Amino acid sequence: MGSTLKADLHLHTREGEAFIAYGARELIDRAAEHGFDVLSITNHDTLTFDRELADYARERGILLIPGVEATVEGKHVLIYNLHVPPERIRSFADLRRYRRPDWLVVAPHPFYPGSICLGRRLLREIDLFDAIEFSHFYTRAIDFNRAAVRLARDTGRPLVGSSDAHLPGQLSTTYSLIEAQRTVASVLSAVRAGRVQVVTRPLTVREWAAITTRLGLAAVRESARQALARWSPGRTVSRRMLWKGQARSIAGS
Ligand SMILES: [Fe+2]
Repeated sequence: MGSTLKADLHLHTREGEAFIAYGARELIDRAAEHGFDVLSITNHDTLTFDRELADYARERGILLIPGVEATVEGKHVLIYNLHVPPERIRSFADLRRYRRPDWLVVAPHPFYPGSICLGRRLLREIDLFDAIEFSHFYTRAIDFNRAAVRLARDTGRPLVGSSDAHLPGQLSTTYSLIEAQRTVASVLSAVRAGRVQVVTRPLTVREWAAITTRLGLAAVRESARQALARWSPGRTVSRRMLWKGQARSIAGS
């Protein structure tokens, strides 16, 4: 028998995006204060996971699951427990080739505006996906999760609630309760089997506006940094910080 585990499987840290105010260890500390049992740090095309970090999390009562938000043919896809470097998964054909039964594949914020969201492509590739994300980024009036909820119901796939946090205040606004033991295999298999429940509340308009403004400003700053770097010979630009990643942030992912 398992227990009910509080989980957020979609989180970002400074190791993936320089504008984020906290690193992986600070995020783990904060999540422990919020009573989380399970986390996955899913930076873009970057695996932020090693034994030392998993031990750090375990000492604080948290099971850390290796995960990544991969960019697959320009669309974001959450992949957990992967055994190949994320850069090998660039196409849906790659995903189909490498995917193993012990992975978990989730469609993040699939019907939000923005070219990085799966949208209708999810319908064509639905066999690759175990679950569909219910994103924290919505209000009572504006909610792009509705199509995701319908698709989950129509295809018999579970919904996974997550914060996709880039800012401290996003944590705990939406998360999942998973009936599982505290192991990676047990948690992922529980999600696949639908033993997961979304806990959520809509953002207030004030919260929604604050998140949009802060992520928008970060995108503008990053865009300026990129432009400056192009004008300054010898400076390097991180591939992970390209504009499209920031555009996704504005979309609430
Ligand atoms: Fe994300």
